[in-house]
Amino acid sequence: MADKRPAELIDGPGEQKDGAAAGAPSAFLEVRDLKIHFPTDDGLVKSVDGLSFQLERGRTLGIVGESGSGKSVTSLGILGLHNRRNARVSGQIWLDGAELVGASADDVRRLRGRKMAMIFQDPLSAMHPFYTVGHQIIEAYRVHNDVSKQVARKHAIDMLGKVGIPKPQQRVDDFPHQFSGGMRQRAMIAMALSCDPELLIADEPTTALDVTVQAQILDLIRDLQQEFNSAIIMITHDLGVVAELSDDILVMYAGRCAEYAAVEDAFHRPLHPYTWGLLGSMPRLDRERSERLMPIKGTPPSLINVPDGCAFNPRCAYKDLTDGKSIAERPELRELEPGHRAACHIPLEKRREIWNDEIAPKL
Ligand SMILES: Nc1ncnc2c1ncn2[C@@H]1O[C@H](COP(=O)(O)OP(=O)(O)OP(=O)(O)O)[C@@H](O)[C@H]1O
Ligand SMILES: [Mg+2]
Repeated sequence: MADKRPAELIDGPGEQKDGAAAGAPSAFLEVRDLKIHFPTDDGLVKSVDGLSFQLERGRTLGIVGESGSGKSVTSLGILGLHNRRNARVSGQIWLDGAELVGASADDVRRLRGRKMAMIFQDPLSAMHPFYTVGHQIIEAYRVHNDVSKQVARKHAIDMLGKVGIPKPQQRVDDFPHQFSGGMRQRAMIAMALSCDPELLIADEPTTALDVTVQAQILDLIRDLQQEFNSAIIMITHDLGVVAELSDDILVMYAGRCAEYAAVEDAFHRPLHPYTWGLLGSMPRLDRERSERLMPIKGTPPSLINVPDGCAFNPRCAYKDLTDGKSIAERPELRELEPGHRAACHIPLEKRREIWNDEIAPKL
């Protein structure tokens, strides 16, 4: 059950945290056993099903996983953007000492404005069609900065220029529909970064942008982090982006965490067969295009009928090494090395052997 703390702890005088003893974690962001389920006519869709992780200020967590694994649903959940009428959300989300799952919608909205920003996968969902692009960036900037409209406007033009919008001093007065798709995405990034967020969630921030603009945007995100010590969640299909930007990686499969590790460990000593598959199948900025990608056999499960045992078992080439456990028992996410967790029944030594002898040489 969510720990329902009074609203004044979230937005109260002087940001008191005297409820901290009731279970508030020390991490800046801590997600505990988060579940986000959607009842539908076809059955209950378990988009996120028991996810836990922590993120400190100044750190970047990369979230990877195939399409439909629950990455965007998790992000929207952290921002409190699911409609509570059709989403069942449980577990806890602690942000800087305040718990969000049990908090009122108003409190979450206030906190979102003050501390969080998101770069959405779909830029249209983030910009209001009735206001000019400039107006929206100016408003986002003034939430955190006590400055005149003129100063904020200059900042907006500056930001539009930084994300690569040509003639920003003219385009600032355009409406979102006057921008092309790629420009809208850049404008949305400008808006998100203008909030100086303490927590930035970037959901595929650079897909559909050309490589030069991608690099510019990643630089801007890095600058933001340096200046404001922001915590960043970076969701991407590009392992090169993860490798470059993230400190840790969370590998999601069917709404759960399959593996969690420092980037170094996830790339060089991964301990989950699904991560092995991803490393062979995802494009990377830092690799030659000609290198062959090896798709993971099979498809992800329906989130209405997730297989018993390990959700990955129908696609796992090594499930016979588990004495049937993969089919019968859900594997716990266990810490196997400091800071390195994986949910897999295959004996650890065996996994190390397979990685070193079979998988790594082929990548
Ligand atoms: N409102 C909803 N009602 C029912 N099912 C939903 C709803 N929102 C998302 N889902 C389902 O939840 C699952 C996870 O979706 P999500 O958008 O988080 O995937 P993702 O990991 O972000 O994928 P992608 O890489 O394609 O962006 C999908 O199967 C999706 O159909
Ligand atoms: Mg998504």
